[in-house]
Amino acid sequence: MQQKQPPRVSTATSAFHLPRSEWPSHPNYPQQVLLMGAHQNFREISLHVVTLVKEQRAPRAKRLFSSWMMAMRGHEHYEESKLFKYLSQRYGLSMSALEEGHEELHEKEAWVNDGFAACAREDSQEHRDALVEALLAYRDVLWAHLKLEEDTVIPLLLAMTPEEFQRYYNGDIQSLLEELEAMKEEA
Ligand SMILES: [Fe+2]
Ligand SMILES: [Fe+2]
Repeated sequence: MQQKQPPRVSTATSAFHLPRSEWPSHPNYPQQVLLMGAHQNFREISLHVVTLVKEQRAPRAKRLFSSWMMAMRGHEHYEESKLFKYLSQRYGLSMSALEEGHEELHEKEAWVNDGFAACAREDSQEHRDALVEALLAYRDVLWAHLKLEEDTVIPLLLAMTPEEFQRYYNGDIQSLLEELEAMKEEA
């Protein structure tokens, strides 16, 4: 069976700055709906948790926030262990701003958890207001992070052929990085 060669590193810098308005009509966009859909769910949950606290349903908000944070951990782990590593080596770009965004989210998450703990001790208006403030701070960092992440990674993902994306999607990161390294040595 013929071995598929890894793609050549693109030098088409214009592919890195594709305007958001052009994403949906890009032929490779359908393969990115999973990531975009996950981000949209995160935005909606960030609003819903605030609504629950304002409606004095902090225990329900806490359960939702906790399960959402578990999903966020899985999402961030995938990004840091595979997506960022691959794109960084594939295109020779730093993803450190996106990793720092995750750190900032963890700091705000700790503030939110303190707010939930205070509400659990005493369900007062003062504690609910403080919790809403923490949740809004988390939301602001989240929304900024998601926008930066989409603006950074989606044009890079769209620039891949469907074949490369499938290979990336199905492959383990170590083998993928070795393929890229071998390709660079060949060039
Ligand atoms: Fe992220
Ligand atoms: Fe993400």
